[in-house]
Amino acid sequence: MNIIDGKEIAKKLRAKIAEEVKTLERPPGLAVILVGEDPASAVYVRNKELACIEAGFFSDKIIKSENTTEEQLLEEVERLNNNPHIDGILVQLPLPDHINANKVIEHISPYKDIDGFHSENIGKLMQNKAHLRPCTPKGVMTMLDSIGCEVWGKNCVVVGASNIVGRPMAMELLNAGGTVTICNSKTKDIPSKVKQADIVVVGVGIPKMVKGDWVKEGAVVIDVGINRLEDGSLVGDVDYDAIKDKAAGITPVPGGVGPMTIATLLENTLIAYKENL
Ligand code: GUN
Repeated sequence: MNIIDGKEIAKKLRAKIAEEVKTLERPPGLAVILVGEDPASAVYVRNKELACIEAGFFSDKIIKSENTTEEQLLEEVERLNNNPHIDGILVQLPLPDHINANKVIEHISPYKDIDGFHSENIGKLMQNKAHLRPCTPKGVMTMLDSIGCEVWGKNCVVVGASNIVGRPMAMELLNAGGTVTICNSKTKDIPSKVKQADIVVVGVGIPKMVKGDWVKEGAVVIDVGINRLEDGSLVGDVDYDAIKDKAAGITPVPGGVGPMTIATLLENTLIAYKENL
């Protein structure tokens, strides 16, 4: 069993970033906008803010009420686009139903889009000339690299085709020389697809969906899911206990991908800072 310690890898990355920040003329600035009171989103935003402060960044946390209009949110984004102290802008998703999230994302300057969700940045990722890359998939690539897991020539299966995780993840693996299969909710016989994978990345939001007998002996398993069960415990999209002894590497939940996403957000903000000077 080889547990991939995302917490530790992320800690090292954050420490490296913090060292670099000490050498800069001004702190890189990250603005995080939260609309509404979704408790999970509030926790994520708080964690992002703490990581920013710890790394010596300037953090601007903007909390807006559930009733904020789309126009007001677009105005806020515009202000941040024009604020020279802000290098990165993150609008926490999901947004309330009355706000068109895509419109808001497209309104963020592509140079400050440290989530990498703007169509310009996603387009660049598809052409393998990306600059700001979505944090979770990029963090997974950093993780694979840091455990010495080579992607080149490997069979990679991505389960889930979301804009935040599955699609950019598939592109990252393709860009690294992997042969990539993307499974979505219509895919027939997902277990047989997963069985072929040397590297499997799962991001679907279904607790323990990927079972022990789906996974090939010696595969590397990356679990992007984080689901809270009724008893309050957190589990991933993968049946960790059933897979841990046969996988060459597996990420725990919590303590796997999550910390990498936050460290990568800081990494991206530092990249944007250098661009925006
Ligand atoms: N909600 C869940 N994951 C993310 C993310 O990576 N970025 C943003 N903005 N919202 C999210």
